[in-house]
Amino acid sequence: MTLNTSPNDLGHVIEADRANVWHHLSQHKAYETINPRIYIEGKGLKVWDALGNEYLDAVSGGVWTVNVGYGRESIANAVRDQLVKLNYFAGAAGTIPGALFAEKLISKMPGMSRVYYSNSGSEANEKVYKMVRQIAHRHHGGKKWKILFRERDYHGTTIATLATSGQPQRAAQYGPFPDGFISVPHCLEYRKQWDVENYGERAANAIEEVILREGPDTVGCIVLEPVTAGGGVIVPPKGYWERVQQICEKYNVLLHIDEVVCGVGRTGKWFGYQQYGVKPDFVTMAKGVASGYAAISCTVTTERVFEMFKDDASDPMSYFRDISTFGGCTAGPVAALENMRIIEEENLLENTVRMGERCLNNLAALKEKHSVVGDVRGLGLFLGAELVADRKTKEPVEEKRVQAVVADCLKQGVIIGATNRSLDGLNNTLCLSPALIATANDIDRITDVIDRALTNVFG
Ligand SMILES: Cc1ncc(COP(=O)(O)O)c(C=O)c1O
Repeated sequence: MTLNTSPNDLGHVIEADRANVWHHLSQHKAYETINPRIYIEGKGLKVWDALGNEYLDAVSGGVWTVNVGYGRESIANAVRDQLVKLNYFAGAAGTIPGALFAEKLISKMPGMSRVYYSNSGSEANEKVYKMVRQIAHRHHGGKKWKILFRERDYHGTTIATLATSGQPQRAAQYGPFPDGFISVPHCLEYRKQWDVENYGERAANAIEEVILREGPDTVGCIVLEPVTAGGGVIVPPKGYWERVQQICEKYNVLLHIDEVVCGVGRTGKWFGYQQYGVKPDFVTMAKGVASGYAAISCTVTTERVFEMFKDDASDPMSYFRDISTFGGCTAGPVAALENMRIIEEENLLENTVRMGERCLNNLAALKEKHSVVGDVRGLGLFLGAELVADRKTKEPVEEKRVQAVVADCLKQGVIIGATNRSLDGLNNTLCLSPALIATANDIDRITDVIDRALTNVFG
């Protein structure tokens, strides 16, 4: 059965969606009077909706995912061929794409050595939490079981990953949460918490303060986004990561980098942590790994971590007793292999650096022109513009006016994003994450449209 649809069928699709689909992160009351948006086709950076409207997608599928763009036949063909050959076998055994993608991935991650497959960013992160807890039981006499996370970071939607949500609105009403997850201060210098010169070092020292308060023998791990995504596109200040690494080494705290958004090219390097010379113990990734052509996430560890789960073969409880049924789907790694080949062959990391600089410059020009733009920031094709009602006091613009900018861009044919349901009173950052194939024309069109939208909404 193919799903080629005529305009008449699409009317039915919209009604079927309205009647039966429960959308993510959506208040459904609105759909009683307006149509849910339904996308039916994509090519490159463009998508078309069920009403025939064309859009330039500046957020890679809404949530920084479709890194190599839409309509990649080579990925579809690779997945199709693999599905016909062998679609699945449970992850206790290996498969050809599983082995070959792990090898390829590790070749981009010096110092790391093992890949554990699952299906979503949340799941990949939760695997780390389980590993840390098991390490605490087996190697620290039950100590070192606490996991630190940072204000404004996000790590997923399950109860345990929400326990590490630095975004209170994402976690609200879903508690109580399990014990042992402790927050550390964020590092966004634009919203300073300390008046010091070396802000990066100071913000990292706040982690040390929390470790000392909790007791270093209780803290096993810290999870951090290399560049915070949904919490407001926060690029850590100079000196931050170097100090984080020192602190982790000093207190024997494992470092878990959540690369679910930054991973596989988004910042212009294969991984965000590689911008800072950091040596992680765990790296998790999902969204861009296969650009949304198949569901795949990876929890990557060092050999040192891996060894801790095989040091006593006589103990039947000593190994990582975890299973992810769909971690055995072969579509994920085969799509991921082809995704990586495309990034290499088309030099998309270089393009990301060049287009990211262009976009940041364009945003800086918008800041000159519109007083409502308080701060612009970003790394590679991962950018944000924070909107403020008053530049001096930095009072955030009301969320509904931020959303009005997003809606105005959509009306002009460009899909942009904004932080939402994250932080009380601070859902005020416009977000951009176009596919890594974006051209100079695409970037200029995106920022021109934002320029007009800011004028339309704020005058
Ligand atoms: C940094 C980060 N980690 C984890 C997740 C969770 O990923 P998933 O939605 O695939 O579970 C997200 C999702 O937006 C994310 O932005």
